[in-house]
Amino acid sequence: MEHIPVLISEVLEYLITDLGGVYLDGTVGSGGHAGEILGRLSSRGRLVASDWDDAALENAGEKLASYGKRVSFYQCPFAEAASLLSRAGVDGFSGVLLDLGLSSVQLSAGRGFSFSEKVPLDMRMDRRRRRTAADIVNCWQEEELSSLIKEYGEERHARRIARAIVRARPFADTTELAAVVSRGAGGRRGKLHPATRTFQALRLAVNDELGQLAKLLEQAPGLLRPGGRLVIISFHSLEDRLVKKYLKGEGGAYFRELTKKPLSPEWQEQKVNRRARSAKLRAAERL
Ligand SMILES: C[S@@+](CC[C@H](N)C(=O)[O-])C[C@H]1O[C@@H](n2cnc3c(N)ncnc32)[C@H](O)[C@@H]1O
Repeated sequence: MEHIPVLISEVLEYLITDLGGVYLDGTVGSGGHAGEILGRLSSRGRLVASDWDDAALENAGEKLASYGKRVSFYQCPFAEAASLLSRAGVDGFSGVLLDLGLSSVQLSAGRGFSFSEKVPLDMRMDRRRRRTAADIVNCWQEEELSSLIKEYGEERHARRIARAIVRARPFADTTELAAVVSRGAGGRRGKLHPATRTFQALRLAVNDELGQLAKLLEQAPGLLRPGGRLVIISFHSLEDRLVKKYLKGEGGAYFRELTKKPLSPEWQEQKVNRRARSAKLRAAERL
């Protein structure tokens, strides 16, 4: 089935105001949104496409090759997005898009994000970073693990799970960990696999996902020209809370919110795109 970029019509509507402008897609992934953005821009419009995952950039490069010099690629964490301004030769972008989290390609690429395949506990989106999920589960103190799983996984059984992990470690692979976490959580109750929240917490920690987003928001005013648009799609309540707090707080001095409430995909999109179910889009305009 063809990959449908999440909330694509809303992204195009809110992001693009200048068809000949220079835009940043800071999470280019497989290039789904990027391709649609480039397709909408005029022949003068350009896209700076960045991601911190080398494999994602390779995929996006292939997908977007036909746009030639109108698209340039950089391996860059979005916390360092300000460095892309000078590399792209502009003072400010006309729009910045972030589609946060993990791509479906990463999920199924044997990199440790999913417990449905037996692979090493890695979970790094940027493989230049040092710390892996194995480092966390095998080395952190029980209390640290418990707080991590509670806070980032919003997991009720965090204490029990942390205790079970500490007793059973060291772990080498995903399925061993998932089995111990499931037992620690007291087995399956609802629809969600009992290891889902713990895996999510580990992924957020390995990649410092909330820290990355906080740093991007700090830089956001300097990334955009007046009238430029910031569009952020989040998939986790902690991420959405961070964006909301920024736009309603200190960001209010620099941005006008375009979405008072976050936008969610219509049920038709949720039906064909599982990932869309928890998506929330917020958009703002640089004053
Ligand atoms: C959901 S995917 C993006 C999908 C993309 N919009 C598309 O249409 O194909 C998220 C991407 O963001 C990247 N990413 C996540 N956190 C990042 C960060 N802090 N810096 C740079 N890239 C990041 C991931 O590597 C992944 O490729």
